[in-house]
Amino acid sequence: MSRIRTAVIGTGFMGRVHLEALRRVENVDVVEIAATSADKGRIAAEGFNVLNSTGDWQDVIRDPSIDAVHITTPNAEHFPMAKAAFEAGKHVLCEKPLAMGVAEAQELVALQAAKGLRGAVNHNLRYYPMVQQMRRMREAGDFGDILVVHGTYSQDWMLYETDWNWRVEPAIGGASRVMADIGSHFFDMAEHVTGLRVSEVCSDLAVFWPTRKQPKSGGESFSGKLGVAGEAVDTPIVTEDFGMTMFRMGKARGAMTASQVSAGRKNGLVLEIYGTKGGAAWRQETPEELWLGHRDSPNQVLMKDPSLLDAQARGFADFPGGHAEGYPDTHKQLFRRFYAAIADASLTPDYPQMADGLRQMRILEAELASAQSRSWVNVT
Ligand SMILES: NC(=O)c1ccc[n+]([C@@H]2O[C@H](COP(=O)([O-])OP(=O)(O)OC[C@H]3O[C@@H](n4cnc5c(N)ncnc54)[C@H](O)[C@@H]3O)[C@@H](O)[C@H]2O)c1
Repeated sequence: MSRIRTAVIGTGFMGRVHLEALRRVENVDVVEIAATSADKGRIAAEGFNVLNSTGDWQDVIRDPSIDAVHITTPNAEHFPMAKAAFEAGKHVLCEKPLAMGVAEAQELVALQAAKGLRGAVNHNLRYYPMVQQMRRMREAGDFGDILVVHGTYSQDWMLYETDWNWRVEPAIGGASRVMADIGSHFFDMAEHVTGLRVSEVCSDLAVFWPTRKQPKSGGESFSGKLGVAGEAVDTPIVTEDFGMTMFRMGKARGAMTASQVSAGRKNGLVLEIYGTKGGAAWRQETPEELWLGHRDSPNQVLMKDPSLLDAQARGFADFPGGHAEGYPDTHKQLFRRFYAAIADASLTPDYPQMADGLRQMRILEAELASAQSRSWVNVT
């Protein structure tokens, strides 16, 4: 298999997650890391044993020997970086949310198609083995026709007024915070597992802290929970701490909440689906278990074990039962499929694509419009 040369832009939380996962993909070499300064880039490159680094991401774009780029920077930079990479003939794997709005996402989808390149959006959470099992059981008809879909994505890392991150700043994170950041993961998973599409939404968004203490320095994702106090400025907040959305998926009905202020919930993503024959529930905080609900017999808990999984879900479980596969493995699974599709142009993509990122932007814009108008809004 020919080796693919890739570069990672950004060295924060996700930059490091991507760099680790990329080392577990068979046909790819990370040849450059781009950071916000030459020093940051050099330190990351030394740590991950990558030969080249830069403090200017455009160096990656200008290098014709680089085949693909991973974009792990804050949201506002996804569009200009992905656009430049596609224009330079590179495949793109971009973090979610894909862009700052529908118009930008549409442009990326069109550009990727025009250039004939591969493009992925990192909705990695689909690739927990037990989420794939739920998907395959639904496809096999085990739950019947889906009637009810609900759940939450709840975290606590922005609970205090002193908690701060670039995500609260609309110019960097976008007009929405929790719905864009984690609500998008819920909807990507709900649509992927059920095969249904969200057709209408009715949303309510809440800002519980009208001002937050913005530190004069620092602020990398989740670092606030380590309690390093410094000088701070009172800053007005307009992006939501919490959101809830009722939604329709054709005939099916659903409701979800997303929160960064729910004490004790770390990455409490929960998806429950109920159909005419049975139900299923999965929780990210106990990802190796899938609850199966029955009306006429005792409920079951299926523990991840490749030998017990549907044949197609089994491809997402690399370790024997009892050896937990978690968050880092979901990235490996997604990246592996992305690079397989680059290596073999005839493969049908089997990972979240640019169009899926656009889809999430459409749901998000409908949620924002609904919260604004206090009414149901169609997802076009
Ligand atoms: N898929 C997931 O599970 C998941 C989880 C968390 C975050 N994310 C997404 O990943 C992205 C990054 O989030 P994060 O939590 O890692 O943030 P972060 O603040 O920890 O890291 C962002 C990094 O990007 C760097 N950066 C900013 N501008 C840059 C530039 N022009 N060139 C090079 N580097 C630059 C920053 O210096 C920082 O190191 C966001 O879009 C977020 O939504 C995805």
